[in-house]
Amino acid sequence: MIPFNSPAIVGTEPGYMQAAMSSGKLSGDNGFTRRCQMWLEDNFTAQRVLLTPSCTASLEMAALLLDIKPGDEVIMPSFTFVSTANAFVLRGAKVVFVDIRPDTMNIDETKIAAAITAKTRVIVPVHYAGVACEMDTIMALAHDYNLCVVEDAAQAVMSLYKGRALGTIGCIGCFSFHETKNYTAGGEGGATVINDPQLIERAEIIREKGTNRSQFIRGEVDKYTWHDIGSSYLMADIQAAYLWGQLEAAQQINQRRLTLWHNYYDGLAPLANAGALELPVIPDALSHNAHLFYIKLRDITQRIAFISALRSAGIMAVSHYIPLHSSPAGEHFGRFNGEDRFTTRESERLVRLPLFYNMPDCDQQAVILAIRKFFS
Ligand SMILES: Cc1ncc(COP(=O)(O)O)c(C=O)c1O
Repeated sequence: MIPFNSPAIVGTEPGYMQAAMSSGKLSGDNGFTRRCQMWLEDNFTAQRVLLTPSCTASLEMAALLLDIKPGDEVIMPSFTFVSTANAFVLRGAKVVFVDIRPDTMNIDETKIAAAITAKTRVIVPVHYAGVACEMDTIMALAHDYNLCVVEDAAQAVMSLYKGRALGTIGCIGCFSFHETKNYTAGGEGGATVINDPQLIERAEIIREKGTNRSQFIRGEVDKYTWHDIGSSYLMADIQAAYLWGQLEAAQQINQRRLTLWHNYYDGLAPLANAGALELPVIPDALSHNAHLFYIKLRDITQRIAFISALRSAGIMAVSHYIPLHSSPAGEHFGRFNGEDRFTTRESERLVRLPLFYNMPDCDQQAVILAIRKFFS
């Protein structure tokens, strides 16, 4: 079976994990965590990056940091992962879903203003497939209405918007290092990117169980104590060691993924030109990280047949999110503002093809041939 995904392995991970074990320091904020954080801060020009156990944890940290309270409203697309919504629902907020653009599957920036009320506190753009949302418009809206922007950049590590790293544009950005993402911290992991300098000190406290332990470790205070609400949002250093191997090879991983992405694009272009399927759209001025390669089919019926035909050919192709507003919790905790013109329709047509760093060329050719056969 050609799997849909397989976690990236570059070969240096075991050595770095052994080094972490030999250091006698396995908990968070030790040597490898610091190396990864500095790498991310330097390469992405970020104010402060804090490794976390997951992007879910980073989103929860963001909601705590922004003091989200019961009754607050948070705007996001419905075509996203549950954690984008849960983080704010956990603080008592109401989620307001806005339709997506059919070209990128990202929140439609032109429909956000209509969803803003006196209760709105945050806009959460989700950079689907590592392709940037229209950040200039979103940041201008946030400025005009005095709102915060939390970028769900779970899928967008190494992607750029007009030359700026995704995750560094809003006041907070959240990355995922889950095994399904381009870079992994040994299966699970994340990072919170703090772009507003005024939030840095409190972010460190919230991440360290509400204590000022980070200041203590830096020698800025002689003992640490309880200062605020918080939780345990550190990544174990042995996971950071795994991640370090992957960050050192970040360009190599990115290049390989982009090559695979373009192979699919070129290999399927004749079918797209014949009107059999649709290919992903990358707007100008965006540089993406080839996180996903998806195609769009006629409708959900054709998608079921397609997935089944590929499975018979030994290939795992998969759908993606069921829109949150149509889920039981989404109906309870959220509301859809305006018309669902594209969210449901486009999500039902989308199917993701296998794409991972260690994918052999011959496997990718087999996928392209199986797709051609399906349409022949
Ligand atoms: C858009 C989005 N946000 C958040 C998450 C959660 O990431 P994690 O598994 O690191 O908690 C995911 C996971 O797939 C995601 O796709």
